[in-house]
Amino acid sequence: MSEPGHGRGGRGPLAVVKLGGSVMGEPATLRAFAEDVWRLRRSGRRVLVVHGGGPQISTHLRARGVEPAFVDGLRVTTPQMLDEVRMVMAGKLQRELVGLINAYGPLAVGLTGEDAHTLAAAPRRHTTADGREVELGRVGDIVRVETGLLRTLLAAGRVPVVSGIARSTDGGVLNVNADTVAAALAVSLKARTLVLLTDVEGLYAGPEARVVRRLSAGELAELLPEIGGGMAPKAAACLRAVDAGVREVRMLPGLAPHVLARSVLDGEELGTTVVSDPARQEVPAGNPVLPGGSPVQRIIVAGISGAGKTTLARGLSRRLSIPHTEMDGLFYGPGWTPRAEFEHDVREMAAGARWICDGQYHWVIGDLVWQRADCVIWLDLPRRTVLARLVRRSLWRVAGRRRLYGGNVETWRSLLFNPDHPVRRVLDLYAQRRRETQEQLARHPGVRVVRLTSGRQARRWLRAVADGAPPG
Ligand SMILES: Nc1ncnc2c1ncn2[C@@H]1O[C@H](COP(=O)(O)OP(=O)(O)OP(=O)(O)O)[C@@H](O)[C@H]1O
Ligand SMILES: [Mg+2]
Repeated sequence: MSEPGHGRGGRGPLAVVKLGGSVMGEPATLRAFAEDVWRLRRSGRRVLVVHGGGPQISTHLRARGVEPAFVDGLRVTTPQMLDEVRMVMAGKLQRELVGLINAYGPLAVGLTGEDAHTLAAAPRRHTTADGREVELGRVGDIVRVETGLLRTLLAAGRVPVVSGIARSTDGGVLNVNADTVAAALAVSLKARTLVLLTDVEGLYAGPEARVVRRLSAGELAELLPEIGGGMAPKAAACLRAVDAGVREVRMLPGLAPHVLARSVLDGEELGTTVVSDPARQEVPAGNPVLPGGSPVQRIIVAGISGAGKTTLARGLSRRLSIPHTEMDGLFYGPGWTPRAEFEHDVREMAAGARWICDGQYHWVIGDLVWQRADCVIWLDLPRRTVLARLVRRSLWRVAGRRRLYGGNVETWRSLLFNPDHPVRRVLDLYAQRRRETQEQLARHPGVRVVRLTSGRQARRWLRAVADGAPPG
């Protein structure tokens, strides 16, 4: 067998391929898949594989007398179950895949998100339709991707094989949906192609439930309410990926042999292709409305510290007559110490019918405000603009000894020496926060987005929001 040359071609376009647990039962299909991975490598592409394992986990648990529990179709994972999940995923399925791919050469390296801190996740919160918060146990949403190890492997021509297990922000580990993992990795590693292989022909839609061959992100977002089961995280994953610039996103019938090579290498039209939707990126002029035409009521102004969220939120609040909450004001108490009531207060605000909040604090409260928001105004300004604004703002605050939220003031000492001062942190956090916002957008596709990419655009947009718009 010829050597695919794992040591060369570590720079080609990247394909992230997610293999569903639903297609891992058939040995012949798996062997064909492994051969396709090798062909992709040989063509000069870099390849990263993510695998699922839903059916295998259920079978394994049942064999041990544990009946899977579900809330709104989402699996509940107890800490004991998680051990079993991890064993099936990383100990069995991942090993099988690594073995099959490595029949073609020393390509595959298996890992989970725990390795080298590749994936960090926060326990998922789930709110039912009637507003109850329910525990899903050890299931997480990704909050951070560290690409170092994967980049090293890919540059060396290897094929990482990743199981959907992540290190948790609360200690321990969490199970994360593999479609979600694949999309997050595709975005973080700037993949050219994201492929999701599953056990159906593609995305079914419409009264006759036909396979949709091609659709835009916007069309997919509209279909989301009727997409259920295992297809829901796939649809969200596709949306996130195209919104973040992944060029080709496909859902392919993974039970058809060699479907990966046929689609990616031979250009055969198979399954469902999702293309980016300029409308989702364009800035709609005037008052933001929901798809049905009703005005938005609960707005997040997102963006990194220094982007100008509060200023924009105040302006918007005046124009729309919707009350504004300054998130920093809820977070900081006297002496810049975090307030214990923060989460409680945010929850109370979020439960309200109409609000504008400036900031997300998702690293503290996860998707709490996102779950209630119907619109996000994203101040996605260039790094240097943000840095310049931050420096200017801090100088102004220090020199003027301005009283800020919680009665605090900024000091020269903090501005010059505090390693956690926003001016210093912006350089580290900029890319991460952008990615997190993209990920949140993908997780909440029903939320209207206004993405503003320069200070000028933001001012112009705000001016176009009509004064004294009728409240709701
Ligand atoms: N509109 C839809 N179009 C296609 N499939 C749908 C749709 N709505 C729900 N589904 C279901 O989604 C399933 C695929 O997701 P599922 O999670 O079962 O598999 P997987 O993601 O490939 O495997 P794993 O979860 O183990 O990674 C299909 O078998 C189908 O029953
Ligand atoms: Mg699935």
